[in-house]
Amino acid sequence: MPCGSRQPIAGDMAGSKHDFRNKWRRGREDLAFEAVSALLSPFRSRPPKKNGLLNLGFGRNRREAYVNADFFPLNLLHRLKGEEPQKVDWALDLRRPLRCDDAFFEGVYTEHVLEHLRIADTRRLLAELWRVMAPGAVIRIIVPSLEKYAAYYAGEVPHENFLKWKIRAEAMWNLNHNWGHKCCYDFELMAEVLAEAGFEDIRRCDFGEGAEPRLLLDTPQRAWESLYVEARKGGAAAAKA
Ligand SMILES: C[S@@+](CC[C@H](N)C(=O)[O-])C[C@H]1O[C@@H](n2cnc3c(N)ncnc32)[C@H](O)[C@@H]1O
Repeated sequence: MPCGSRQPIAGDMAGSKHDFRNKWRRGREDLAFEAVSALLSPFRSRPPKKNGLLNLGFGRNRREAYVNADFFPLNLLHRLKGEEPQKVDWALDLRRPLRCDDAFFEGVYTEHVLEHLRIADTRRLLAELWRVMAPGAVIRIIVPSLEKYAAYYAGEVPHENFLKWKIRAEAMWNLNHNWGHKCCYDFELMAEVLAEAGFEDIRRCDFGEGAEPRLLLDTPQRAWESLYVEARKGGAAAAKA
């Protein structure tokens, strides 16, 4: 190709038949997120119910028996998008220290949330979650699986849903950049950040399978692309003694 001439590349919207549009309007929404977080941070709430189970970053999947936590201006964002507001039990910013006593929760469930945080923020958050979990409590984490996406990129078809992308790079784009994603995980990396935060008994689970039945809230529509990991805060025996 002659030097200086321009070849269309993946992600080049002009004339591209592939869908590399960002499903999260970066810029405007990122800016709103940061500004509201900084301004309203002093008004972050505390969780209402001790010894409960935490549904962290619940989005539109509110569970009545759980403490449903999400970004504190979630409803402002929903209203801006013309969507139905949600009741938020615990309004927070996961990138900031949690306003919560130690050993407060009996278990934590978080589905398709950690990929929205930079890995440094996830490391801090996991240390905070370890602090607010009771000894022996389980955390169940679900994220898009780098392993499934990488297998698809390498030529396998882990699930027919992967075939919705016209070229394999689109799938990787979806994993890494779309929806405001800031990080991606395979089991090895997830296990490493959990261990760093102090968690034990870290293990890969399947959809709908895990140590704590009350945390099996997995969304079936996400199973094809998801990684399921559980870990435990140690010390239950010591706490009982
Ligand atoms: C893809 S949605 C997942 C929602 C729900 N867990 C589900 O499975 O449908 C990601 C959620 O994480 C929340 N989130 C992302 N960054 C956050 C932050 N810094 N603080 C609090 N919540 C955040 C978003 O508000 C959103 O509700």
